[in-house]
Amino acid sequence: MEHRALSRLAAPAVAALLALTTGCTGGTVQGRPGASGLRDPYFPKAGNGGYRVDHYALDLDYDPADGRLDGTAVITARADQGLSSFNLDLSGLKVEGVTVQGEPARHNRTGNELTVRPVEDLKKGEVFRVEVEYGGKPKTIVDSDSSEEGWIVTDAGTDAGTDGGAVAVGEPVGSMAWFPGNHHPSDKATYDITLTVPDGYEAVSNGELRSRTATGDGRTAFAWHSPEPMASYLATAVVGPYKVTTGKTASGVSVYNAVAPGEEAGSAGVLARLPEMVEWGSGRFGPYPFTTAGAVVLPKGSLGYALETQTKPLFPGATQDEELVLHELAHQWFGNSVSPKSWKDMWLNEGFATYAEWLWAEDHGGIGAQKRFEAFLAGDTDVDAGADSDWDAFPPAAPPGPEHISGNPVYYRGAMVLHRIRQEVGDAKFFDLVRGWAADHRHGNASTSEFTAYAEERTGHDLEEVWDVWLYGQARPH
Ligand code: TRP
Ligand code: ZN
Repeated sequence: MEHRALSRLAAPAVAALLALTTGCTGGTVQGRPGASGLRDPYFPKAGNGGYRVDHYALDLDYDPADGRLDGTAVITARADQGLSSFNLDLSGLKVEGVTVQGEPARHNRTGNELTVRPVEDLKKGEVFRVEVEYGGKPKTIVDSDSSEEGWIVTDAGTDAGTDGGAVAVGEPVGSMAWFPGNHHPSDKATYDITLTVPDGYEAVSNGELRSRTATGDGRTAFAWHSPEPMASYLATAVVGPYKVTTGKTASGVSVYNAVAPGEEAGSAGVLARLPEMVEWGSGRFGPYPFTTAGAVVLPKGSLGYALETQTKPLFPGATQDEELVLHELAHQWFGNSVSPKSWKDMWLNEGFATYAEWLWAEDHGGIGAQKRFEAFLAGDTDVDAGADSDWDAFPPAAPPGPEHISGNPVYYRGAMVLHRIRQEVGDAKFFDLVRGWAADHRHGNASTSEFTAYAEERTGHDLEEVWDVWLYGQARPH
């Protein structure tokens, strides 16, 4: 009876049913759905299971006059299981069509998940190409800590002759607002981002500008290439009437700065020091991990924070704050080249970038890191304004929830963890550890437990007290 009933179904449906009930992977039936999230402890739905992305080619058209983004995302990925379907993360926008290996694929959307069902199952190990055509008005996402991310429309600065522009910011989950992808830092990929905008606008993204081409219809296409792997939260797209300047550092790293009209004078001083900062970082942390460096200074008031977008950090308006620029630059080693395995490892980004500020000051006639450390313990705000913040509120390696991953303890107490290691092992071993860490995980991912094991092995010191008290301990260290 049962057998007869089954035989009336179409053959593929039978096969699918059998695969479901037996877990069978033989013959042409091999796939099962990829997971809809990577179970990040703070953002469980971020990213997707069953595949890893090698490359994103985003071809995007943006019109500041109506705020519309239209584009195609071509994603090259490798299946790490047999896949009957897989997900991409995408928030808002309309999907016009999806192909897999050139064949139209069925797709549907629930929440921020775009599920794609290829005509033929993908085999484990297979490299496949997904093309998503999409468009609409991308949205700004309000984060769990009430900061804004995703797609942010910006004004024209002091240049009243244009419609302003936009900026894409992705930390931690904003990138799904402007392109479909595997949006978790554990899946890094190379990128080609081509932005087509009306003539008169600049379009800036990560990496190097390969070409700038007039399309003949009053628009210009800017083709940006990121040869080094990048976590998707570090991808950016910036459109507006920016003033662009270029240069090179002493060791030959290209520098590309884009500054919003009206912000030039206020940021010229710190931007002039950027090449020197790249060289200083290379001395302290090992070779700068990318072929390009630079900065984007957004129109004042467009964003509530700076962000270390890969190769071109974003600053919300002109800044004279050398330590802030240094902080975002330091992320290029810590966060961007060595990226967190999960959002719980955020202190590996922020603790290092904050400690880099302390080191920069120490090396440039400012206050030493030891004094800064003592000032935090004493709550001395004359030395550092952060000293009487809630830097001690929680252990940096265990923020109490997703809304705390950018909290003060992640930055300040994270930096203090590094200083405690330095106190224990001395300068020579400490700087060897920092350079070794950056070198061994260059363009990869790392977790907190990998760091603690590595630190002990590299320095030959038992650092358990530092981990127990400073990194994981609930009590205020003293
Ligand atoms: N990661 C950024 C930096 O340290 C700051 C940042 C990004 C942030 N998103 C945030 C701070 C949200 C607070 C809230 O440079
Ligand atoms: Zn930071």
